[in-house]
Amino acid sequence: MILKGFSLMVCLFAFSSFASAQDQKEGGAWNVPAKYKAMKNAVKGDAASVSAGKNLYTKHCKSCHGGTGLADGPKSSTLKTKIISFKDAKFQGQADGVIYYQFVIGRDEMPAFDKKIAEEEDRWALVNFIRTLK
Ligand code: HEC
Repeated sequence: MILKGFSLMVCLFAFSSFASAQDQKEGGAWNVPAKYKAMKNAVKGDAASVSAGKNLYTKHCKSCHGGTGLADGPKSSTLKTKIISFKDAKFQGQADGVIYYQFVIGRDEMPAFDKKIAEEEDRWALVNFIRTLK
């Protein structure tokens, strides 16, 4: 019995040490409610808004998504889920409201920022900044 438990532990250890960045799972398509898809960006993407968005991004997002959106932040390799690059044409092809939903509501390892970024103006500023990363 003790031996069995021990070999199980060895197995688990061996398995977990094999789990590397290559084993990250793709999150797959996002199921975004129509209400969000239809949302219009309420803030013009001018220099002031982009710069406000960049500050928020540096504070809240860079650790995982990386400075230029390549998903290469220091925390990214510790996650089980693969993050797609913000330079990806398919990602950038999504409506502003979809991107808004992805970080305001979140999913699994992508944290919800509805409380930390509570102002609508700040949320759209982040979307405006993310648009400059393409
Ligand atoms: C703890 C790490 C982490 C932080 C911090 C983080 N994200 Fe993410 N983000 C993720 C992960 C993991 C995914 C992929 C989730 C999935 O597909 O289920 C993701 C996905 C996304 C997506 C959808 C694109 C995709 O890969 O599917 C957007 C947009 C996004 N994040 C924006 C943001 C913004 C904006 C911030 C800061 C306000 C932020 N994230 C902070 C980990 C993070």
